[in-house]
Amino acid sequence: MTIPTRLAFLTAVAVSFAAGHVAAQSLDFATYRAKVEPIFLKKREGHARCVVCHAGAGNAFRLQPLAQGATAWTEEQSRQNFDAVSKLVNSANPLSSPILKHPLAHEAGGDEFHSGGRQFTAQTDPDWKAIADWARGAK
Ligand code: HEC
Repeated sequence: MTIPTRLAFLTAVAVSFAAGHVAAQSLDFATYRAKVEPIFLKKREGHARCVVCHAGAGNAFRLQPLAQGATAWTEEQSRQNFDAVSKLVNSANPLSSPILKHPLAHEAGGDEFHSGGRQFTAQTDPDWKAIADWARGAK
C-alpha cells in the first residue's frame, strides 16, 4: 500500500469504529434478556403491553410474535429482538436513544408523541432505568 492509501484505510477503520462498531458490541445480550426484555411483556397500569402492539410491528421497534401460549421468547427470538432494539440505542448518547425517549412522557424528557402512550412518566421509573442502564452498556 502507498502511504496515502494506507492513511485512507486507517481513517476508514477509525471512522467505522467510532460509528458504533465498538459501541454496538458493548450492549450486553444476557443483560438485555434478563432485565430489559421482560419489560416489553409487563402490563403497566392504564397501558397495553409493548408486545401487544410491537410484535410484528411495521415500525423500527419490532418484536417477534410470541408462540401461542408462550410467556417468554425463545433464545433465538430474543436474539432477533435484541438486534432490533439495539438499533434503537444511540451508543454515543444513550439517553437520547429512541427506545428510551419514545415511550417516556414528554415533560420527563421524552418525545412529544407515542401512539403507545406515555408508558414511563419519569426517568426514576425502575423499568425505564433498567433500559437506560443497559443502553449505557451495563452488564
Ligand atoms: C397501543 C399500542 C402500543 C403500545 C402498547 C406501545 N407502542 Fe410503541 N409504538 C406504537 C406505534 C403505533 C408506533 C409508531 C408510531 C409512533 O411513533 O407513535 C410506536 C413507536 C414506538 C417506538 C419508535 C419506533 C420507531 O420506528 O422509531 C418505540 C421506541 C416504541 N414505540 C417503544 C415502545 C415501548 C418501549 C413500549 C412499552 C413500554 C411501547 N412502545 C408500547 C404503538 C404502541
